[in-house]
Amino acid sequence: MLIAEARRMDISVAVLDPAVDAPCSALADRFICGGLDDPRAIARLVGCSQVTTYEIEHIDAAALQQLQCEGHRLVPDPRVLAVVQDKLEQRQLFARAGLPGPRFSGCTPADEAAPADFGFPCVQKARRGGYDGRGVVILRGISDQRIDRPSLLEQYVSIKRELAVLVVRAADGGMVSYQPAEMKFDPYSNICTHVIAPADLEPGIRAEAVRIAEAAVEALGGVGVHGVELFQTRDGRVLLNEVAPRPHNSGHYTIEACVTSQFEQHLRAVLGLPPGAVETLAAGVMVNLLGAPGFSGRTVVEGVRGALALPGVALHIYGKRHCVAGRKMGHLTAVAAGADAAMQHAQSAAASLVIRGENRVA
Ligand SMILES: Nc1ncnc2c1ncn2[C@@H]1O[C@H](COP(=O)(O)OP(=O)(O)O)[C@@H](O)[C@H]1O
Ligand SMILES: [Mg+2]
Repeated sequence: MLIAEARRMDISVAVLDPAVDAPCSALADRFICGGLDDPRAIARLVGCSQVTTYEIEHIDAAALQQLQCEGHRLVPDPRVLAVVQDKLEQRQLFARAGLPGPRFSGCTPADEAAPADFGFPCVQKARRGGYDGRGVVILRGISDQRIDRPSLLEQYVSIKRELAVLVVRAADGGMVSYQPAEMKFDPYSNICTHVIAPADLEPGIRAEAVRIAEAAVEALGGVGVHGVELFQTRDGRVLLNEVAPRPHNSGHYTIEACVTSQFEQHLRAVLGLPPGAVETLAAGVMVNLLGAPGFSGRTVVEGVRGALALPGVALHIYGKRHCVAGRKMGHLTAVAAGADAAMQHAQSAAASLVIRGENRVA
């Protein structure tokens, strides 16, 4: 989606991806197949680019830092990646900046007890490598199965809504933010299923979410789009969860529902151009299209006609050749004058669509 926006502005793109048949390989001007932890592959990408940015945070940050020292332009600064790659370091930075978040402490696989100051239930998170809820477990007692890696423990928050604020930070430090959106998660897989934008919030909560999100991005010193994840608690507070310094799943709706998409914003910021308008044109509901359970293999898409018959629905199929249950295969966005109509059309469209592997599995 970033490449599509770059093409619209006649910007050439080289990409690095470990999968030989990655969808971006067909779109980019130059495709380098290699690992995101492979310093030589990273050097090839950076070496052929005037400026390099990232759409994922799990990259060898030391290799990027080395290339930056050699004079290459990397935006955001690789130090931003190094901080967010480690959930404990990230929490410590935000705590030092005085931002509200759950209480937390570091823990090693040998630690048995819950921290004395918040006890059970608590949330254990792997410090590194987690995404989409993988690497996060809720511990209800001492005998619950734990993550066997360096991790952190967090106070369990009683969440009313999960919110996301997209913050665009320009190279000169200026910031603009989209209205907060609400993220809905599957309670079992922990994957984000829906995003509702704008979220239906009291003005005080909305302002607090934007204030905290912008302060977090300022503390990180990032440049580009940031997806800032927050919790609205049942007792009326807003707490910071985590920041992704890149276009974010919660911002896909901006392609159809806002004046400027998050992808264009990211490009503008990375290239030192002024930010675009963040105004909302319509209410938007985004649904992630996940690989259907019970199937695996070559991707099969069914029900497109029915989905597109619904008003205001746009379909994004990512072109991943292999489909397994739960894999993010695409998304759809429904726009309408109000959130209720957008939700209704988004749900009907998602119900008519099936993306699955061609083979049934047990
Ligand atoms: N302290 C917490 N209290 C309650 N639920 C939490 C807490 N931290 C995370 N969660 C739940 O787990 C999900 C994943 O956690 P997160 O830190 O965002 O990791 P990931 O990198 O997998 O997105 C969150 O979206 C939220 O639903
Ligand atoms: Mg998260």
